[in-house]
Amino acid sequence: MRSYKKFNNPILIQPTREIPQWVGIIGAGTIGPDIGYYLKSAIPDLKLVLIDINQDALDKAVDRIWAYAEKGRNRGKLTDEQASNVQQDILASTDYQVLAYCDWVIEAASEDIDLKRKIFSDVEAIVRETTLITSNTSSIPAERLFSHLQFPQRATVSHFFAPAFRNPAVEIVSWEQVDGFVVEYLRWLFYVTDKMPMVTSDAVCFMLDRIFDNWCNEAAFLLDEATPEQIDYVSSSYVHAGPFFVLNLANGNPIIIETNSLQAEIEGDHYTPAEIFKSAGTWETIRPGEEVYVEPELAQNIRDRLLGILFSQSVDILDRNIGKAEDLDLGSRLAFAFKQGPLELMRELGETESTRILEKFSRTKPEMPMPRQPVSTYTKFRRFILLDELDGVKIITLRRPDALNAIHDEMNDEILDTIKQYEDDPDTTGFVISGYGIRAFSAGADIDKFPSMLGDKKQSMEYARSCSRLLSYLDTCRKPVVAALNGMALGGGLELAIRCHGIVAVKDAWMQFPEVTLGIAPGIGGLTVPYRRWPEASAVFHSMLIRADKLTVEKASEIGMINTLVDKHMNLIPAGVWLAKDLAVKQHKIRDEAVSIAPIMREVNAPLSAAGQRLSSEVIDIMCQAIDDAARAGTFSSALEIGYEAFADSACTAAAKEGINAFTQGQKPDFQKTG
Ligand code: COA
Repeated sequence: MRSYKKFNNPILIQPTREIPQWVGIIGAGTIGPDIGYYLKSAIPDLKLVLIDINQDALDKAVDRIWAYAEKGRNRGKLTDEQASNVQQDILASTDYQVLAYCDWVIEAASEDIDLKRKIFSDVEAIVRETTLITSNTSSIPAERLFSHLQFPQRATVSHFFAPAFRNPAVEIVSWEQVDGFVVEYLRWLFYVTDKMPMVTSDAVCFMLDRIFDNWCNEAAFLLDEATPEQIDYVSSSYVHAGPFFVLNLANGNPIIIETNSLQAEIEGDHYTPAEIFKSAGTWETIRPGEEVYVEPELAQNIRDRLLGILFSQSVDILDRNIGKAEDLDLGSRLAFAFKQGPLELMRELGETESTRILEKFSRTKPEMPMPRQPVSTYTKFRRFILLDELDGVKIITLRRPDALNAIHDEMNDEILDTIKQYEDDPDTTGFVISGYGIRAFSAGADIDKFPSMLGDKKQSMEYARSCSRLLSYLDTCRKPVVAALNGMALGGGLELAIRCHGIVAVKDAWMQFPEVTLGIAPGIGGLTVPYRRWPEASAVFHSMLIRADKLTVEKASEIGMINTLVDKHMNLIPAGVWLAKDLAVKQHKIRDEAVSIAPIMREVNAPLSAAGQRLSSEVIDIMCQAIDDAARAGTFSSALEIGYEAFADSACTAAAKEGINAFTQGQKPDFQKTG
């Protein structure tokens, strides 16, 4: 029997197949063409085959993909070439025979077990015996769909979430007869095509729909006591949109009837869908952000019941190994726009309050699952990093895809704790830090934290010092730490990368200090570390800092910042491991003595960024002074202090207020009005 090592970061998987060249999708409703568009935009040469029994539906599906491509082109998300690639090579047909060439067939027909089983038999009769076959079912166990096939080992569930071209979450079901290599290959394939694959067991409704469907069902049972508006409003403390608003959006009533009936059939009557779903049409409810008055006692009851079902389902998912804790929380955020995952909510409420909610829920629904262990054991896991091991080197992957891996306190501590945990482990040679996905190593420090400290110099300086706890630790870490840049490294993400003892990068990665465009100065080493490590390139760093110039990794490599450049994402972490082992025997200390740097050339009146955005002269003044002072400082630690202070000074300017508020509201800042 072939075996393989399991990795948490899918990029470490050695895929057993190539990227597919021909993919067939059966079902031209909504999700089928959406999946088609995702695949066409992620795989440039892909030939897409769309199959349906209805020619009209097929024509509409092709139009839909064309329209998405046009929209992408008009919004600048796709180049002309990319948009035309998406629009080419789509074959729409009512004849299954055209699936013969496909490397992968995805079924996205309606949730009808008999229909799906027939489709799979028909597909199997036409395609090669190695062709991958997956179903987009949200609820039906793979065992029921595929066990009649001649070659079931190549078939499983790959469950997308709406809209399938934008929503990164995809569940992959690991069921009894599927070949483990197929599951691993799908994890790898989804990763390299910019999705967030999550493996689940073959339980009915898998992992994420158990959370969502049962939450909606419980909301419907609550209608005896409250209105849809009241229920949506109360749940808005932890979701962006309440259950009834989402049910309207997704035309979800029939889906809940289907999925909960199946759950009831397989796991017991306590999952039976609320009767009202059969007669209800559209729910009268509020839009996200709107408010309604709810009596405090009723609000408490709604909250307890809805959290009760979420907690009950979450502990069950973990107790039965249906999915992983970190995927459950992340998946709930990505797939259903939860502001916080259920386990995060449990942790925040604490053991006593979560237990109270669960016990109260169990009095209303005695058959529902209850925790088999103390509540706190469910909430202890790394939320924002993945940990792997390759050849004696620990691989730390920053995973916060909803914020391009921006680093906040909790992620910072998870990295730091992991390094401390293994620093003295004789079997660990060093560490590689990389980012999850193909876009971002890290888009910087978490900007959402900034508004609370603006205007307060003391607090801002303390924040910068405290944020530096990981970076300062790296300065004295006894084992090498390598940054593996898988994409953009911005601001605080770049400050982390340059504090590591070596850097490897994939060739389309890039670096930038965008802080000046937010009206602030880099706070945790950006004003001093590059100059102390690569003083000959000081002019490059000046323009990065005061004009937000982007630096390609090719150029960074020329000035000595990058140890190794690789062509493909797959080769990145192995290159980082190799470097970590090489650096293990070398000194890595940032120079303590003053450095000589080039004079800073700057536009005093109306300064502009490299992208032509007007900048704040006041913030640039603060930065230039700090760069010079830090270069002259007699020790590295005093240079860092100068940087912390410059960040704090910038955080007290009107420009910072303008820049940070504009970012958090998704607008462009106007520094002209701040001077
Ligand atoms: N802190 C917190 N959240 C961040 C973030 C950061 N540093 N960088 C990106 N995000 C979030 C965005 O707010 C957005 O969240 P939303 O979907 O809830 O609105 C999500 O990540 C995706 O980013 P978005 O801006 O929609 O992607 P894009 O492709 O249009 O732009 C960037 C990408 C990197 C250009 C843009 O996100 C950006 O400018 N980020 C700030 C970078 C920065 O200034 N870093 C330095 C801080 S020290």
